[in-house]
Amino acid sequence: MSTSKLLYAAGVTAFSLFLVAAVGAQQPQQPRDGEQIMNASCGSCHEGPVIQTAAKDEAAWKATIEGMIQKGAKVAEADKPLLLTYLVRTHGPMPDGPGKDVILNTCTICHDLTRIKRSRHTAEEWEDTLVAMLNEGAPLSDDDFPVVLAYLSKNFGVKE
Ligand code: HEC
Ligand code: HEC
Repeated sequence: MSTSKLLYAAGVTAFSLFLVAAVGAQQPQQPRDGEQIMNASCGSCHEGPVIQTAAKDEAAWKATIEGMIQKGAKVAEADKPLLLTYLVRTHGPMPDGPGKDVILNTCTICHDLTRIKRSRHTAEEWEDTLVAMLNEGAPLSDDDFPVVLAYLSKNFGVKE
């Protein structure tokens, strides 16, 4: 292929990519939020709570989004920042330690982790919250209760 043909082919490709991006960005009739983008782009392959039980920082979520696009997820270029912000806000990193896995798996069944993260409680208050969650139906076992309580009091406690 001659150089000019190659340049032409590159130009056509760039233009169609531009079109795809432009159409992709225009498609939604109303502005969409990150949750809607997630449901549309991520819901097709994930039946289980793969996203809900994840807790990643911005760099890790960015890599996950690109990895999922490699696997076939469709995310319009223009939607990426909103999706990333949403994932980091609702499924952001949690401190490591015993109890973290239980929290990721049982406390995300009804709500995301922002409720936990914005709370600062004494150990007694956390105990009350956990009892309230048990009453709501949270499947927190007797063995896990003290572990989760210690985790929450340590990481989301009240500064003395
Ligand atoms: C075309 C199918 C498909 C779509 C669409 C898809 N995924 Fe995945 N995803 C997979 C597969 C397959 C795995 C398991 C293999 C693996 O872990 O890499 C996975 C695993 C994951 C995991 C667990 C592993 C990890 O990296 O933490 C997360 C989190 C995740 N996906 C997030 C997302 C998000 C966010 C989206 C939307 C942007 C998405 N997925 C869309 C196929 C998909
Ligand atoms: C079965 C559903 C369910 C599960 C599972 C669940 N919650 Fe909740 N959670 C709720 C509901 C409903 C509310 C709102 C109730 C209210 O505001 O009175 C709530 C509210 C909260 C709040 C904010 C209110 C407060 O008292 O500060 C925190 C924090 C919380 N949950 C933590 C947790 C933790 C930690 C877990 C895991 C051990 C958990 N939740 C599991 C249903 C659940």
